[in-house]
Amino acid sequence: MCGIVGYIGKGQAAPFLLDGLNKLEYRGYDSAGIAVYDGNNIRVEKTVGRLAALQEKVAGNMPQGSLGIGHTRWATHGRPSDRNAHPHTDCSGDFVIVHNGIIENYLSLKETLIEKGHIFKSETDTEVVVHLLEEVYNGDFESSVREVLRQIEGSYALVFMSKKHPDRLICTKQDNPLVIGLGNGENFIASDIPAIIARTRKTYIVADGELAIVKGDSITVKDRAGNVIDKEIFEVTWNAEAAEKGGYEHFMLKEIHEQPKAVRDTISPRLSKDGSSIVMDELKWDASFLNNIHKVTIVACGTAYNAGLVGKYYIEKLVRIPVEIDIASEFRYRDPIVDDHTLMLVLSQSGETSDTLAALKEAKRLGAKTLAITNVVGSSIAREAAQVLYTWAGPEIAVASTKAYTTQLILLFMLSLYMAGIKGAQSKERIAELIAALEKVPGEISETLEDVEPIKTFAKQYGFNEDVFYIGRSLDYHVSIEGALKLKEISYIHAEAYAAGELKHGTLALIVKGVPVIALATQTDVYEKTLSNIKEVKARDAVVIGIAAKGDTELEKYVDHVIKVPATDTLLIPVLTVVPLQLLAYYAAITRGADVDKPRNLAKSVTVE
Ligand code: G6P
Repeated sequence: MCGIVGYIGKGQAAPFLLDGLNKLEYRGYDSAGIAVYDGNNIRVEKTVGRLAALQEKVAGNMPQGSLGIGHTRWATHGRPSDRNAHPHTDCSGDFVIVHNGIIENYLSLKETLIEKGHIFKSETDTEVVVHLLEEVYNGDFESSVREVLRQIEGSYALVFMSKKHPDRLICTKQDNPLVIGLGNGENFIASDIPAIIARTRKTYIVADGELAIVKGDSITVKDRAGNVIDKEIFEVTWNAEAAEKGGYEHFMLKEIHEQPKAVRDTISPRLSKDGSSIVMDELKWDASFLNNIHKVTIVACGTAYNAGLVGKYYIEKLVRIPVEIDIASEFRYRDPIVDDHTLMLVLSQSGETSDTLAALKEAKRLGAKTLAITNVVGSSIAREAAQVLYTWAGPEIAVASTKAYTTQLILLFMLSLYMAGIKGAQSKERIAELIAALEKVPGEISETLEDVEPIKTFAKQYGFNEDVFYIGRSLDYHVSIEGALKLKEISYIHAEAYAAGELKHGTLALIVKGVPVIALATQTDVYEKTLSNIKEVKARDAVVIGIAAKGDTELEKYVDHVIKVPATDTLLIPVLTVVPLQLLAYYAAITRGADVDKPRNLAKSVTVE
């Protein structure tokens, strides 16, 4: 979590730093700060609260200078406060740093540094890094930073600035993301591309252990041993507008509406010219590879995990290989049975989630074949996995994930079809039928998005209820889980998803008069059974909003309201039914006046365990 930025060049640093932090606020937003060198002194401005509070603080008195660093925080060590906000300085004020990550051995380092006379101003783990730099400084900035790196343990993306060396910034990373933007006579550092895209599309994606000396007119990247690396330029293909709200009130709403395009972009490059088969040039798999895979293990967190639940269903149904699924933070600690006959599938929008990355590394250590499905090119997970499939959703900024989920479902579906084709697990006709259905999905999402008014009305009507239940069977149940997560994370309404058949084993006790129940009933093979469960909650006077496929004339007889999505194959309908659930969560949050894009206590990219 946390976002960091740096600027060096011929222009003013502060405008870039503030704008960059604005683009990174999705990574954390409990406090923010910048440090700018004016030619004589380093001026540090920081404050608890959103970036807007910092902007207000410096308005009319902007720090002047062409060298600076900045930070937007998601607190781990030390509560959100002015003094715990970054940047952090040493005792002399000569050095200043920003950090994203956790320094695990900070307590012992802090004790030693205090014994040596260092005075700490914050409760953060980060501050030890800058005092340590002061302690080991030998006149050579780079070798002193390397000495600091030798002594610290943990995860980090760090930018170091010193008024003794105003011609450079030094940055480095381990397990947390860092990019450098190549400008003309100026260079930029950031946690993520949206912070720099308005200034340049040419970037270096910094890898673990690399250290960069960034000057106004040059960038030197070195490996752990100090050898200069010939770094490849990664050219960003999407434009600055893709990371802007584009007229929508919130990123989440924009991203919900971007789903037809995101899904189309994920599908198109992977269809054969005649549209009859799935092409995955990214994977070099043949039947012998797949026959050696005895099981698939899916690992992910949050919404990506919910997509994985659907993925398990797809792979088992279409490829007939058993699939296990784990929450990434649980995987490593349960002594998983993974070997070289296991295909480890990791799902992550950001490609940076710490638990997912750690699970991936553990699976690799155990010999698994690894494949990542991620949205961020060059991310840590993309680099760590043996193979990668990218969702082409474009940047997702809102904390609540939407288009990443639907594109993950699409890619999991396509991967399953691809594997089924190679293994001969499905007939050519069935595969062709499913591909034909797949091609219609972007248009069907657009159609679903046209019908927003009833959803707004339900959100107003039920947005102030404190509990909402979601039920469904089979794939409908998995989509319910994602729907409930959306509602709780942005509206703070307590929402739970239940397999409809499980209600009677306990949860039915919570269904009383007026409790809203969102019931999904699109899976034809369990439709009658779902109807019975809906009748059970109706009999307890719940208010039921049913979600059905167009053409269904039965459900409306038993529920209070119905939302209909286009009819498609039951395997693909989750990509459609989730859309009204996303909208319902969005408008419920609006009804309650919640901050949709920045829900309390959460962050977009969780780079701590
Ligand atoms: C955070 C985000 C979620 C996301 C999860 C996993 O909790 O708020 O929206 O689903 O992390 O993130 P990833 O980038 O690995 O998909």
